[in-house]
Amino acid sequence: MRLPENFIQEVVERTDIEELIGRYVTLKRTGANYVGRCPFHNEKTPSFTVSPQKRIFYCFGCQAGGSVITFMQKAENMDFMEAVEALANRAGLPMPKDSGGQATDRTTPRKRVLEMNLEAARFFRACLFDPRYGQAGMEYFKKNRRLSEATIKHFGLGYAPNDFGMLRRHMHQKGYTDDELVEAYLCARSQKNGNVYDIFRNRVMFPIIDTSGNVVAFGGRVLDDSKPKYLNSSDTPAFKKSKHLFALNYAKGVCAEQMLLCEGYMDVIALHAAGFEYAVATLGTAITPEHARVLSKYTKKVIISYDSDEAGQNAANKAMRLLGEVGIEVRVLKLTGAKDPDEYITKFGAERFRRALTESRTGFDHKMDAILSAHDLTVSTEKIKASKELCALISEYHSPIERRVYTAQAATALNMPVDVLTNSVEQIRSKRIKDIRRKQSREAEATLKNFGDRINPDSAKSPRASSAEEAVIGLLLIYEEYRNAVSAGEVELTAENFVTEFHRSVFEEIMRLHESPSGFRFELLGMRFSPDEVGRIERCEMARQQLSHNGPEVFRSATEALRDAQRMQTLQEGDLSARLEYLRNKKANLHKGKADTQ
Ligand code: UTP
Ligand code: MN
Repeated sequence: MRLPENFIQEVVERTDIEELIGRYVTLKRTGANYVGRCPFHNEKTPSFTVSPQKRIFYCFGCQAGGSVITFMQKAENMDFMEAVEALANRAGLPMPKDSGGQATDRTTPRKRVLEMNLEAARFFRACLFDPRYGQAGMEYFKKNRRLSEATIKHFGLGYAPNDFGMLRRHMHQKGYTDDELVEAYLCARSQKNGNVYDIFRNRVMFPIIDTSGNVVAFGGRVLDDSKPKYLNSSDTPAFKKSKHLFALNYAKGVCAEQMLLCEGYMDVIALHAAGFEYAVATLGTAITPEHARVLSKYTKKVIISYDSDEAGQNAANKAMRLLGEVGIEVRVLKLTGAKDPDEYITKFGAERFRRALTESRTGFDHKMDAILSAHDLTVSTEKIKASKELCALISEYHSPIERRVYTAQAATALNMPVDVLTNSVEQIRSKRIKDIRRKQSREAEATLKNFGDRINPDSAKSPRASSAEEAVIGLLLIYEEYRNAVSAGEVELTAENFVTEFHRSVFEEIMRLHESPSGFRFELLGMRFSPDEVGRIERCEMARQQLSHNGPEVFRSATEALRDAQRMQTLQEGDLSARLEYLRNKKANLHKGKADTQ
C-alpha cells in the first residue's frame, strides 16, 4: 500500500515547483524566491512564497505550506497518494511496479465514492428509462422541460424512484456498505432510530461530472412545486461544492473564446441543447474564489448570465468581482422578457439569445448603468451621490489604465471635468488600501491563533512548552547534524520530553525517517500528516530560519528550555512547593555556573 520513499523523493525532485505553482498563482521573482498572492486565502498583498532551492512553498498570511505534494493535495483536493501519482504522471515517471498496481487500484475514500457515484448514476439512468419506475420523470423532462432524448442521454440524466431503499438495496448488492453510502451522501442515517435510507427520492437527477469524467456528485429536482426544489450532494471525499462547476466537463472541450456562467442546471442544459456548449453553472451555491480560479484555468473571458431578478443581479456583482480578481475578462448579459436563460431560449429561440450575447456589456458598463439609472441627474444632490458612487466603483479597479478609461467615461456621463473625478477616485483608493492592510494584519493574527488551536490543541494549555518544542523541531528540520546528535544519544532528547501530542508525533516521525534507509526528507512528512499539519510543521522551520545564529549551543539550549518547560508543566500539575523548590535550585545552579566561568 505504500510507495517507496525514494520514489516520492524522485517525484519531488523532478517537479519544477515554480512552474507547477505558477499555473495557479502569478509569481514574481524576489532574490532566490518567488512571491505571489496566496491561492488558499484571499489577499491583496502577496505573502505567498515559493523557494525553488528548498522546494517548498509557504504563506505568511495563512500558514499554508509544504512540498509540491502538499500543494497538489490542497489545490486539487487530493490525498497524498493521488498527489504523488499526479506529479509522477506529469514528470513522466512510471509508478513503481510492485506497489504500482496497488497505487492505481487502491481504494482511497475518494476512489470508493467515485465508484459508488458512477454506479448510482447508472442506477438513476436505468430507472428513468424503465417505464415501471421512471415514467413520471421521463414525462417531466420531455413534456415540461422539452428536452430531447439525445440531451437527456448526453447529460446522463436520471430519476430517483419514490422509495426509501431502492438505491440502498441496489448498492448493497454491488458490495457497498451503509457507512460508505452515508459517506458518499447517497444515503443518510436517521438520528432517531439509526435506519439508513436513500436521500434522493422522487426527483429527476443531474449527475455532476468533473473534468476528468468522474461522477462527483448529484443534484436532484422535484417534479412539481414542492420544496426544497433541488437537493444537492454535500461535500464528500470526492466533491467540493465550492470548486466544481456543472457541465465544465463539456465546456472545457469546446474551443470557444468564452464561457457562459449561469445559475441553474436547467439553464445550462437548455443552453447546451441550443448549441451554446460553453455554458457552466455553480451547484446550489454562489460563486466562490475557487470557482473563479478553476474558470481562469480554462478561459480568459466569462459572460455572466444570471437570473434577471434582484437576487440574480446581486449575485452577478459578486461574480464580476471574483472573476475580475483572477484576471478574467468579464461581461454581463442582460436578458429582458424572461427570468433566466432557459426561459429566454424557450420563449425567443437560440438566434435571439446569440444576438443578446453580442450585446453583453462589460462589468463596468453594467454597474455604471445601474448607478446612473438609480439617480435623477437633474437634481444636484442626486448627481453628487451618483458621482460618489461611481468614483467608489472606479477606485476598485487595480489597473491604472482601467481607472483612467472609466473615469473618462463617467465624466462624460455626468458632464463633469475628468480631473475632479480622478482626484476623488485616488483618494478613495488610498484610504481603502490603508483599511485593507489594517484588516489583513488583524485577520492574520486571528488565523494564527485559531490555527494553532486546531492543529495543536495542547499548545493553549502549555504555551511555553509548545514554543520551546517548535524551536527544537525547527532546528531538527533544518540541520542533519542535530538529528544525528539526537539519534546517537549525544543530546538528551526523547519523545517523552515533548508535552504537546502533536509536536511529540512530529518529533517521532522526523527521527523515524532520519533512521530509516531513505533518510529524512521534508516531503515525506506528508505520508503521515495532513496538508494543514505539514503547513504547521513548516512554520517551525520558517520561524527558525529567520534567526541568523544557529550554532550547536543553540540546539543544546533549545532542548534545555524544552526540558525545563516540561518539568515545570509536570510540576504545575503537582504542588506549588515542589515548583518553587525546582526554581530555587535552578537559580542556584545558574549562579554557580556564572561563578565558575568568572
Ligand atoms: P433556480 O431556482 O433558478 O432553478 O435555482 P433553475 O435551475 O432555474 O431550475 P428550474 O428552471 O426552476 O427547474 C438556480 C440554482 O440554484 C440551486 C440549483 O443549483 C439551481 O439550479 N438551487 C435552487 C438549489 O440548490 N436548491 C434549491 O432549492 C433551489
Ligand atoms: Mn432559474
